Amino acid sequence: VWKDSIKEVGMKIAIGADHGGFELKEFLKNQYASKGTTLIDLGTYSEESCDYPLIADKMAQEINGGKADLGILICGTGIGISIAANRHKGIRAALLYSDEAAALAREHNNANIAVFGARTQKKEDVLRYLEIFLATPFSDGERHCRRIAEMG
Ligand code: RB5
Repeated sequence: VWKDSIKEVGMKIAIGADHGGFELKEFLKNQYASKGTTLIDLGTYSEESCDYPLIADKMAQEINGGKADLGILICGTGIGISIAANRHKGIRAALLYSDEAAALAREHNNANIAVFGARTQKKEDVLRYLEIFLATPFSDGERHCRRIAEMG
């Protein structure tokens, strides 16, 4: 079920991928564009080999600079780009692998980036996890705020 959560909440969402995630990035962009939502595309813009840390850095700047509220990052496994993104203060990038993880990444961790592995995940699962992620607010619970603050 398409909840069109991006439009409902008026969020600015950026998307970035290395060459391994390029095709999935284009797929997601087209899916959202067909529903009237434009994702901010931070590259890469072709299947030519590129380095995922540079895309992760661009995304961190976009979010920490206030140009995007949430981000989507993709590489082959989702692992390299998660590691790179999470080196930045203020970034909480979560590799989503189930419906429950997609909801809890927002609810408990206030994750600001959803990460996917283009080689390891199915498109329909990715779309569903993303919709759950975007539709779920942070719980704002005291213990969750404390744990996030402990990470600096
Ligand atoms: C690129 O070949 C690949 O290493 C990258 O997309 C990613 O899977 C790294 O974690």
